[in-house]
Amino acid sequence: MTAQRTLVLLKPDAVQRGLRGEIIRRLETKGYEILALAQRTATSEELTAHYAEHEGKPFYPGLVEYMGAGPLVAIIAEGESVIAGFRSLAGATNPTEAMPGTIRGDLAREWDLPVIQNLVHGSDSEESAAREIGIWFPELG
Ligand code: RTP
Ligand code: MG
Repeated sequence: MTAQRTLVLLKPDAVQRGLRGEIIRRLETKGYEILALAQRTATSEELTAHYAEHEGKPFYPGLVEYMGAGPLVAIIAEGESVIAGFRSLAGATNPTEAMPGTIRGDLAREWDLPVIQNLVHGSDSEESAAREIGIWFPELG
């Protein structure tokens, strides 16, 4: 195995609820390194590129609106198997199904909204990680 990098987003609901520190604490106490961290409001170009795989799905317009609704925090994290490791920390996509002990299971819940709000994003493969790091940190990709 070799060290991997993953792209983590603290989504606008995480920033709005003041959960940056709690989520970053979990990432750091797990032992992963933070190589880069930036807060900003996503541009529509960044969101279109980031969520290209979901274009055309029923929740896509709601997803772009949710992710652009306020500032988010983009992070590059590094460590052995960090891609799977962070997704394990995050828990299942739907916060109702996410296990207690996970970020989504402990800190998120379902709402009657057109898209699932679930606090964090984590890359799902090495290919996605490389692509997403290039979108959010073009100077480092
Ligand atoms: P992410 O990409 O954010 O790490 O989450 P994921 O892999 O667990 O989920 P994915 O299938 O890639 O979906 C991306 C994000 O879209 C929202 N979503 N809403 N049925 C729905 O309302 C629905 N399905 C997906 C969630 O915010 C999800 O994280
Ligand atoms: Mg995904």
